[in-house]
Amino acid sequence: MIKFKHTSRIFPTETDAYLFFTFSDKSEIKKSLRNAEEILKEKFPKKFHDSVMANSENQNLSFLKDGRLLFFQKCDKLERLNPDIFRRASASAVKKLISMKLNRVTLVISTIEKESLQKNFDSHEYYLQTFLEGLALGSYKYDQYLSEKSKAKIDFHIFYPELSKRKIDAVIKLSNVITKYVMLARDLQNSPASELYPETLALKVKSLSKQNPKVKVKVFNLTEIKKRKMRGLEAVGKGSERKPQFIILEYFGKDRKSQPLVIVGKGVTFDSGGISIKPAQNMWEMKGDMSGAATTIATIFTAAELKLKINLVGLIPAAENMPSGSSMRPGDIIRTASGKSIEIDNTDAEGRLILADALEYAAKYKPKLVIDLATLTGACVVALGNFASGLFTRDDDLSREIVRASNLTGERVWRLPLWDDYHQLIKSDIADVKNVGGRWGGAITAACFLEKFVDKKYKWAHLDIAGPAFAEETIPYTSKTMTGYGVRLLIKFLENT
Ligand code: BES
Ligand code: MN
Ligand code: ZN
Repeated sequence: MIKFKHTSRIFPTETDAYLFFTFSDKSEIKKSLRNAEEILKEKFPKKFHDSVMANSENQNLSFLKDGRLLFFQKCDKLERLNPDIFRRASASAVKKLISMKLNRVTLVISTIEKESLQKNFDSHEYYLQTFLEGLALGSYKYDQYLSEKSKAKIDFHIFYPELSKRKIDAVIKLSNVITKYVMLARDLQNSPASELYPETLALKVKSLSKQNPKVKVKVFNLTEIKKRKMRGLEAVGKGSERKPQFIILEYFGKDRKSQPLVIVGKGVTFDSGGISIKPAQNMWEMKGDMSGAATTIATIFTAAELKLKINLVGLIPAAENMPSGSSMRPGDIIRTASGKSIEIDNTDAEGRLILADALEYAAKYKPKLVIDLATLTGACVVALGNFASGLFTRDDDLSREIVRASNLTGERVWRLPLWDDYHQLIKSDIADVKNVGGRWGGAITAACFLEKFVDKKYKWAHLDIAGPAFAEETIPYTSKTMTGYGVRLLIKFLENT
């Protein structure tokens, strides 16, 4: 449990350790920030210093005479000064602080030169927020099933004279809400599919809305799904004992008449591939094939808790893709609510089938914008690795807005095309469209498939998050495997709409 509090004095104060950030070179970064050494010299009387020093690759430890720790966290040099530097460094630091069992730490924020601040962070507030996000998210561990849970508890006292106590308190509050829901998204992703399946996911969303009634929840069960001719969702779910659900979240932070923004999240609670079954290796990861749903849920509750003045709708088609005697088969043809028929070539291309129904349903809200998030294709991971999602949209302004948010949050996106040529690859001889393209450009043909179900009346962007939803621990603040990718990105984006 990580907690934050403002402090107006750096020394002397009740604390076990001081956390400083340092830079290893004479880069742009170093020029624009106040050095830890400088602050130290100015703020700490000489007689308290001591010379004991311990080094590791990116962390230096030193002690005051009274035994208190001075912890110097070295920042990685990224391409340039950017908002992810302190998020990452803070996450590295917090892991070490936890392992050292420290309880009270003074977080010393370096002052930053005005120009760099404006160029890279927008505001003092967001600059500070990156540290808090790093500390909170870096301490995350999925321990629900561990008998021995980490009892880590650190109170951070934030020393940052550039901002008033009131403003720092506001940043703390904001960061606490955001990180709480990023971690909720991670918990949902991490939950085993035996526990988290469409019905329990729907129950979870309902129980969250009990805590925050500003989010209204509706759930369509299988009967309702059939009645509404959501045959993509029905087809994907029919091989499983666990019945599909269609979950709707509504948050109105503005007058009802203003057009909402719809977020659609792929909610495949387990993707075995179905009859076109996946190989065994890494199949367990497919318990996280509901990452888009997790991000959607977390984002809407964050927006509601922050009382953002927007209207938001979340749509989650939830199903489990399993092989059985009742599964859909390759060669089947399904007719969707939109009237379009789909030839099933590969039952493992299931995400796009359930998303087709959700995108169709989205039009009912007459939204101004629809963004879908889906762990849609392995091909996208082949293209971009774990470090970015694929962004698809025909709208350049929308793309620019999303990229802007992504630069701030460090949740990177990379735009891929939706050119008409690719649409030819999903032509079918016997139906209106086929659910897979050829061998190449799989992320793009999947996006093109979705586009066929998008109403031209609303703007649309698709994020293929198959890479960054799951990750090794290469970025210190994303936890091993399930990252909660997209929540911070969407909130940043929404703040500006
Ligand atoms: N959920 C998977 C995509 C995926 C793969 C996400 C690896 C994360 C990591 C999706 O349903 C899928 O199976 N896609 C197929 C599509 C293919 C059959 C056209 C894929 O990418 O192999
Ligand atoms: Mn699949
Ligand atoms: Zn899938």
